[in-house]
Amino acid sequence: MDSALAKSSAIEFAPEQLPAHIGVIMDGNGRWAQARGKHRTEGHRAGVEALRRLITCAVEFDIKYLTIFSFSSENWQRPQDEVNTILGLMKKFVASDVGTFVKNNVRIRILGSRDGLSASVLKMISDAEGRTAHCTGLQLNVAFNYGARTELVDAVKAIAARVADGSLGIDEIDEEQLSSALYTAELPDPDVIFRTSGEQRLSNFLLWQAAYSEFVFSEEFWPDFDRTSFISLLDAYANRKRRFGCVG
Ligand code: IPE
Ligand code: IPE
Ligand code: MG
Repeated sequence: MDSALAKSSAIEFAPEQLPAHIGVIMDGNGRWAQARGKHRTEGHRAGVEALRRLITCAVEFDIKYLTIFSFSSENWQRPQDEVNTILGLMKKFVASDVGTFVKNNVRIRILGSRDGLSASVLKMISDAEGRTAHCTGLQLNVAFNYGARTELVDAVKAIAARVADGSLGIDEIDEEQLSSALYTAELPDPDVIFRTSGEQRLSNFLLWQAAYSEFVFSEEFWPDFDRTSFISLLDAYANRKRRFGCVG
């Protein structure tokens, strides 16, 4: 990619037209592979390359928060070999790219339940979060073993425990309290949620946080995602009129 093109595209968007927080449902790895007569796992491998392109774009366009859906709490129900491949790729990706994250000032955080995760996955999470904790550029949130309904149930339990021990009154429970009990406590809500592969659903991603998000869907499978796809996403977002219930 030549840098003149990067510059000319970057200046097409005024800072206020860019989303501060982008959520991405990276979907269609399996179908991408099947369409090429390959095993689904090849789609997951190619999906990691698309993820690298996404992160590069987010850094280039100075996006503050990027939250990617990498593995849902429901994805454990897939065939064991596929689950193992995805977990292996994820560990390899984080381990091999953490140096690049530091170099690009990218802070990584893993959002999701830690229950049932193996010791090696837990170590990968704490290493990556620890090594990038000082980074102040793009904040990359990886939703892994993530399900929004479980997130909400866990938040309700945490709030109920505080009511039970007397540290929180029922009248003090408000939207802010609930937001701050979610995995995304310190993050602004996503401005836009993007999903590839033609599916138009959330699949248990950021249910609470997406209350006023814009939705952008594309027909391409995740492994085909590239810089042009990213610019199309920014373009779609820049043309939306957000009203938040007001008259505009
Ligand atoms: C997204 O691609 C990756 C994960 C869910 C882990 P899929 O594996 O869902 O691919 P399709 O949707 O079956 O094509
Ligand atoms: C959502 O995709 C989860 C991720 C992208 C990680 P799925 O492929 O699991 O969602 P459904 O089953 O099509 O709703
Ligand atoms: Mg899918």
